[in-house]
This record gives sequence, C-alpha cells and structure tokens, in this order.
Amino acid sequence: MAFLKAILPNCFKVKINDAIIHPEESKKNISSRLAVSDISDPELSFSVNDLSSNAIIGSNLHVFTHAQLKVITSDFSSCNFLGEGGFGPVHKGFIDDKIKPGLGGQPVAVKLLNLEGDQGHMEWLTEVVLLGQLRHPNLVKLIGYCWEDEQRLLVYEYMTRGNLENQLFRRCSTSLPWQIRMKIALDAAKGLAFLHEEEKPVIYRDFKASNILLDSDYTAKLSDFGLAKDGPEGSDTHVTTRVMGTPGYAAPEYMLTGYLTTRSDVYSFGVVLLELLTGRQAIDKKRPSREQNLVEWAKPFLRNVHKLNRLIDPRLEDQYSTQGAKKVAALAYKCLSQQPKSRPTMSNVVKILEPILDLKDIPIGPFVYVVPSFECKSGLKTKGNNEEKKKENKVQIISDQDDQGSAREKN
Ligand SMILES: Nc1ncnc2c1ncn2[C@@H]1O[C@H](COP(=O)(O)OP(=O)(O)O)[C@@H](O)[C@H]1O
Ligand SMILES: [Mg+2]
Repeated sequence: MAFLKAILPNCFKVKINDAIIHPEESKKNISSRLAVSDISDPELSFSVNDLSSNAIIGSNLHVFTHAQLKVITSDFSSCNFLGEGGFGPVHKGFIDDKIKPGLGGQPVAVKLLNLEGDQGHMEWLTEVVLLGQLRHPNLVKLIGYCWEDEQRLLVYEYMTRGNLENQLFRRCSTSLPWQIRMKIALDAAKGLAFLHEEEKPVIYRDFKASNILLDSDYTAKLSDFGLAKDGPEGSDTHVTTRVMGTPGYAAPEYMLTGYLTTRSDVYSFGVVLLELLTGRQAIDKKRPSREQNLVEWAKPFLRNVHKLNRLIDPRLEDQYSTQGAKKVAALAYKCLSQQPKSRPTMSNVVKILEPILDLKDIPIGPFVYVVPSFECKSGLKTKGNNEEKKKENKVQIISDQDDQGSAREKN
C-alpha cells in the first residue's frame, strides 16, 4: 500500500492518512511489484490515468483505442473467433505497423469483457496489473489493453495451437504424442513455479486445460489471470477467499473452506497431469456415473503400478515411456493428496518432470506403409543396391497381432 501512496499522491479519492513517506522508502517500494491486494482495496479508486502512468506497471504495455481493436479484429468478425470463457469472447487479429508503429506486424488475440458475464472490471484489472509486470516464457505475453468508458479489452500474443483442452479432447484432432504431453506438463509446471516463487507469491487459482495455451512448437503458457490472488505473506499460512475455481480442478479444502494456498494450485496441476495421462476430462458427464469425476475414478489405479495400463490414454496406442508413466502417476498421486502439506511444491514438480522428458523407452509405433508409385518402384529396381535393401528391411507392416503383442508386453 505504501508503494501506491508514494507514487500516486493525487490519484485516490480517499485521503491517505499515513505519515509523510520518506523519499528513500518510496524509491525502495517503487522497485517492488504492485500486488493484487493493492488494486482490489475497495477504498481506492484506480483510474485509467493511473494505469497508463509508467510508474505503476512499467512501460511494457501498449494502450489501444476501441476503434483500433475493431480494425485489428475486422470488427470482431465471427470468422476470427477463437474461444470464450467466463470473461468474454476472444478474437484473432492482426496488428500492422500503420495501427501501432513500432510493434511490427504480428497476429494477436483480443479478449473483450462481456459486460453481462460473470467477471468484471476487477478481474480485468488483475490481469493487466499481473501480466503487465510478470514476464516468463511460460506465461502468455500481454501486449496491451483498452480501457474506454465501459469497454475493457486485453491484447495478447497469439498462440497458434489454442488451448490444451481442445488439443487433448477434441474428437477430430490427432492424439498428442507422449513426449509433447510431457513437455506441456513441464512448461505449465514452470509457469506455476515462477508465480509461486515470486517475492510476492501469486496463487493462480484457475489452473485447467482451457487456460493453458499452446504455441506452434507446443510451448505451453498460462493465460487468464483474472482470478489470481496474492499468496499469504509473512507468518500467514493461507488466504481466505470466495470460492471461485472450476469444479473438477479446484482443491477439496479450498472448495470446502475457501482457504487458499499455493498448494491449491498444485492440486489443480495434478488434475491436468491426470488429463494428460488418461486423455479423460476432469469432469465428463457423458461417462458412466462412477467415471464422471476423473480424480475419483483414477486414484485407485494411480496407487497400483500393475493397474497403470488401465489408466493410460488408449489413443497413445502404447507409445509412451512405461518408466515415465509410472513416475507421472506417482507424481499426480502426490499432487492430489487430500492434505495440502503432503503435496509437493511446484519447483519440486519441475525437478521430477525434467528427467522424464529424457526417458527413451518409448516403443516405435506402427506406421502406415505407402505403396510406392510406379516411378518409385522402377527407381528401386534399377538401383537395387545394398542400401536400398537395408531400407526395405526397416519397413515392417505391424499387424494387429503385433500390436496386441506389444500391448501385452506393456501390461
Ligand atoms: N492468446 C491467445 N491465443 C489464442 N487463443 C486464445 C488466446 N487467449 C485466449 N484464447 C482462446 O480463448 C479462450 C478463452 O480465453 P481465456 O483467456 O481463458 O478467457 P476467459 O477468461 O473468458 O476464460 C481460450 O481457452 C483459448 O481457446
Ligand atoms: Mg479461461
């Protein structure tokens, strides 16, 4: 709070009742980050000018007008629609040098606050203030914002492959390979670990597959910081809040009591890890009632390595590391512990996941043999040397029987 008072002497409607702030103290405070609690204090009114003044969140962010964002998204055209959560619709757009000189041509995603939706100005401001100050390769980059009358918009870097939920569960999409699933888990874990280890820790509070975005090379980044909270400081062990997260992902103690700690995020991380392992959604109403809640269904299998094959996503078709899967199952089990203190920290999770990416015990899967065209065949005949023969030997058409054989081996 002293920080705000020091840098914004005239911006608040309330009278600041502290003694005079010493210039040295204010300098020290300016270097520290503005916390969520600083902006959510109901006594303070945070204006558009406060936000755009570089002293608050630095000069990382560009300010857009609503008219500019209409041009960028072709008037929020439905063909540019990317997705929608509790906040409002997100559209793809393109910034060219004429609209914002200096930014260069680049695709962006523009999120528009739905004025009738569940979230409002505070969630919007939380996202601007946090993402404006926190930069990490596994957090989505906020490029700028628009605050004009009732309009509240956010402009992010565009993430080519959209969210993990669609990539993992959409029926028509091809299944994500094991290595990519593990990379996504590791990236997301790094993003959470960064938030938790900040000088002022941040609890993300809404960790789920639809809030993990994927780049063209499947780099995963956390997005959607509207529900994020400051973690406990000093001797406090938790913060108490209104229960907000998403059923199926939110930690049981948080759902029951509203007690929030960084370990609540660890629980949600465990749920996403299970989703990556099983290819099943945290809550799936289309399944038989015993299987609708993923954690409840999966826990008995997680404890028993002999039952692991019942858990693994059948779409992986046995192309996964058995050693890795055992370790991931054990890790998910710890993250999903009922006791928050028994869950690992996110930096521990990162340490456990890193070596799993190097495991090479992934069977080479069946592949489609494409019958060579006439030219190809004749080419092979004319060459007919040893090298070609070696190549031919490598081509095996894996029959159903072979497939079952390798499945049996796994079992
Ligand atoms: N930067 C982005 N690039 C690509 N798609 C995005 C981007 N941001 C959001 N989306 C899409 O929009 C959806 C909703 O965005 P999100 O930030 O989670 O909004 P909400 O706060 O409404 O949940 C995401 O699940 C994703 O599909
Ligand atoms: Mg979301």
